This record gives sequence, C-alpha cells and structure tokens, in this order.
Amino acid sequence: MVRTYFRAGAVTALLMSGTALAHAESLTMYCGADEAWCQQMARGFEAETGITVDMTRKSAGEVYAQVKAEADNPKGDIWWAGTGDPHLQAAEEGLTEEYTSPMMGELQDWAVRQAETGQHRTVGIYSGALGFGYNKDLLAKNNLPEPKCWADLTKPEYKGQIQIANPNSSGTAYTMLATMVQIFGEEKGFEYMKALHKNINQYTKSGSAPIKAAGLGETTIGIVFMHDAVAQTVAGFPIVSVAPCEGTGYEIGSMSIIKGARHLDAAKKFYDWALRADVQSKAQDVKSFQLPSNKAAKQSPAAPDLSTIKLIAYDFKKYGSSEERKRLLKKWDDEVASLPQ
Ligand code: G6P
Repeated sequence: MVRTYFRAGAVTALLMSGTALAHAESLTMYCGADEAWCQQMARGFEAETGITVDMTRKSAGEVYAQVKAEADNPKGDIWWAGTGDPHLQAAEEGLTEEYTSPMMGELQDWAVRQAETGQHRTVGIYSGALGFGYNKDLLAKNNLPEPKCWADLTKPEYKGQIQIANPNSSGTAYTMLATMVQIFGEEKGFEYMKALHKNINQYTKSGSAPIKAAGLGETTIGIVFMHDAVAQTVAGFPIVSVAPCEGTGYEIGSMSIIKGARHLDAAKKFYDWALRADVQSKAQDVKSFQLPSNKAAKQSPAAPDLSTIKLIAYDFKKYGSSEERKRLLKKWDDEVASLPQ
C-alpha cells in the first residue's frame, strides 16, 4: 500500500515536471554586441521574465549569413544588436518579421527612421560613430605622429601598425568601407582602401577586436566605433580615441525578429523589453557607450558626444540594400583583400 502510494506520487511528480517543461518558455538570441553586453541582456531578460535565453555572440555579417542559411528551418528567434546594414538587408530579403512595438513612441527619430527603412522588420536600438583609436605608449615608442584624419592612416610610416576587421564578417568594417565610398566617392574610396591595406597587420573577424588588441599593445592603431575605443580607455588601457578630421560615418545598431521564429511571443516580449529606457540605461554598466535609442535612457558622461563629431549623411537605405552590400563586399574581396601587402 505504502509502496503504491509512493509510486503514484512519483508518477504525479513526473507528470507535473513534464507539464512544466512543456510550458517553460525559451528564446534563442543571436547577439551582435560585445559579449559582456550580450550576457547582461540575456541574463537580465531571464531574471525578469523567467524565459530561458540561449544566446550566441556573432558579428553582424555572420548573423546575417546564419539567418539566411537557416531560413527554411529557423533556429533563432531574436537578432539583437550589431550594425543596422545587415538587419536592413535581411528585412529586404524577407528574412525577418514585421513588428511594430508599443514602445516606438519612446524612441529617437533615427531609430524610428531605421524601422521605416526596413518596412518595420527592424528597429534602431543604439547609435555610434566610426573612428579609430591608438595606443599612445606604442605610438611614442615607435616615434609616430598622432593620426588625426582618415588620410593619415594611409601614410607609409604606419605600415604594419593598423588593424581593422574584415567587412564580410564585421558590421564595423562594412561601415568603414561604406563610409569611405560616401566621403571620397567610389573610385577614390576604393583607392583609399587599397592604400590602407598596405598598412594593415591583420583583418580580424569581430569589429571591436582591433582596439582590444591595441589596448594590449599588439597593434598601435585600431579602426573601430569610437565607443569601443572609449571602453578601452575606461578599462584603464592607454587608448586615445580619434574623430577623423574629414568627418565620419556611423551605425544604427538594430534589432529584428527572425521570420518563422519558434518562440514568437517570447521574441516580441524581448523586443519590447529591450526598447525600455531602464534596460538601455544599464549598457554603461558593462562599458557599452553607444547612444541609446530610447529618449529617456541615460548615457554615461564618458560616452562620445555625437553632437560634437562631424557625421556624414550616411545613406542607410542604399548601403543597407542587399544588392549594394553584395556588390561592395565582392569588390573589396576582388580588388583590395587580394592585393599583396
Ligand atoms: C561592437 C560595437 C557595436 C557594433 C558591433 C558590430 O560590438 O560596440 O556598436 O554594433 O561591434 O560588431 P561586428 O563584429 O559585426 O563589427
């Protein structure tokens, strides 16, 4: 009798845990920001909602390629962060879901414009200007002048001193390529990338890797978003950030729900949550110094002040279009990366 009682109890417990498992919500997140911020977002959402988040960090071009490859059998639910251009490309190709968050009214105009450009299949979550940073100790040790302009970086004295990511994988490096084309025109922009190529010691996979390497003294100069350079300075490394004299491009870091998401409700919950002012205000706790898209979100005083930087009128529609991204990346592979250094 006693035995039967326990057996029945065990069966009930099993059934109950089965029910709990079937109802446990989860979310698969492809994250395009730096690891610490990705972790903060994943764990923060879990803590508040009880929804388990399975997060992987990848560069913007890599997430785009994965979402495209998985289109027939989507594994991801939400693509949070990373430069906006591949999000726009995915939107154009119908790889992401249309969604208008009730939070839209709280956002900066540039974030709403990004949503409009992407037919509401994406939205702006932060912004940041492109630039570069250098290790001031290494610069002094190598007797190099302080670089102030994009043009300086192609001077022969910087040979082997500069690092940037590969634009195929990295949204940061794609922003650089598109920025040069917009500042100098296509022909001169590519001449610039070829001249720069002679000075590059390594093309990394991820966009912020070059300035982390500069912080550690592995390269003198890193071409990155300025907020990534500032993060190294705040972390105590001898990094100086530069807003290039010719002016510069910028990103609208974006978020999209993946088309055919298995956990669509959880993805929408995350989307609304990630646009909240209190959530965005926490980015600075993990040294992410982008400009937040919620108007009421707080930014660190250490963050680069975009209003003091000469920004170009970056054409997100054109440079986020599928055809233009493919064309520019192929041209860079064929005409720049293939050149001897
Ligand atoms: C860093 C920056 C982000 C940017 C991202 C792009 O994480 O802080 O602002 O969106 O790089 O990464 P990727 O590796 O694609 O260049």
